[in-house]
Amino acid sequence: MKFLLVFSLAAVLFLNIGCGGDGEKVSATPTKKPANPNGLTDFEMTHGTGPIKAKLELGPIDQLTAKKGEKVFELKCYQCHRIDSRLVGPPLHDVLKRRQPEYVLNMILNPEGMLKKHPEAKKMLAQYLTPMTFQNVSKDEAMMILEYLRSEYDKETRAAAAVK
Ligand code: HEC
Repeated sequence: MKFLLVFSLAAVLFLNIGCGGDGEKVSATPTKKPANPNGLTDFEMTHGTGPIKAKLELGPIDQLTAKKGEKVFELKCYQCHRIDSRLVGPPLHDVLKRRQPEYVLNMILNPEGMLKKHPEAKKMLAQYLTPMTFQNVSKDEAMMILEYLRSEYDKETRAAAAVK
């Protein structure tokens, strides 16, 4: 019995060593992935760079928050953006089709950083030629604006579905 135990322990140890060795062999030849521009992480490439550093858990749209967001939008964004048409900046009715919610928040909270580092924001700047500037928006206000943009996009997708 004792012998069996020692034997199986030795076997486990041996197998472990064997596995470790194999693992190392695999990682010795990593597949090379091209580096992101400006040292951006993969997360930042899809979600933007700025204070929002993790994926958000967004629940169903809260219409009351969306209404508050509309007010903030009119106060702080209206000089450059409309929902449905181009002004100084792009129309925002379908921004959530193009961008992740975290990207939109990072653009609102860190436009200068985004325009300096993010390839997508740079592309937009090349097209719109005016740099978006920070509008002194708190994170809470940015969340309200996001809720407003979510509700506008939701209206639009529902209307499109009804037409079909
Ligand atoms: C001074 C004008 C100006 C103001 C004020 C402004 N923006 Fe912008 N915004 C732009 C421009 C122009 C762009 C396109 C990128 C660029 O050229 O900077 C842009 C881009 C964006 C984008 C990215 C769109 C995309 O498709 O990637 C979002 C989102 C956005 N703005 C939201 C807002 C919100 C919300 C506010 C209010 C808090 C705001 N902006 C205030 C001019 C402005």
